Amino acid sequence: MSQLHIQVIHGPNLNMLGTREPGHYGSQTLVDINESIIELGDELNVRVTTFQSNHEGEIVDKIQHLDTDALIINPAAYTHTSVAIRDALLSVKIPFIEVHLSNIHKREDFRHKSMMVDMAMGVIAGFGAQSYNLALRGLHHHLISLKKS
Ligand code: DQA
Repeated sequence: MSQLHIQVIHGPNLNMLGTREPGHYGSQTLVDINESIIELGDELNVRVTTFQSNHEGEIVDKIQHLDTDALIINPAAYTHTSVAIRDALLSVKIPFIEVHLSNIHKREDFRHKSMMVDMAMGVIAGFGAQSYNLALRGLHHHLISLKKS
């Protein structure tokens, strides 16, 4: 069976993890999070590649050029505003999981709305850095079941 490939995309300000609002986002840095998800990928025999940008257009470009089996995306603040990222996700039809470190539904009202959630295969929010690993486990399970059927 060929190796699955999953892309992880981190949106704006997630490069500041570790020092940014630790009460909401914990103390792990983005490097820690990427290392952990790549390590879990090795365990599951999934190739995991990661990308972070503070710029909406760069995230759109990255999505348009995806050639992976699936996507894990934390669009960060763009979750709540970006029609452009929604349209990019619609244009490529790659299965994706929306991830958030914090439970956005426990926070300010403007964070309750997601521009992409209705297109996502699933959403994981509120488990801190572990949200990414839970998403990878979920996607892996789903993609392996599809290959078997
Ligand atoms: C976030 C939640 C967003 O509301 C916020 O703008 C972020 C991070 C999260 O991971 O909890 O930057 O996506």
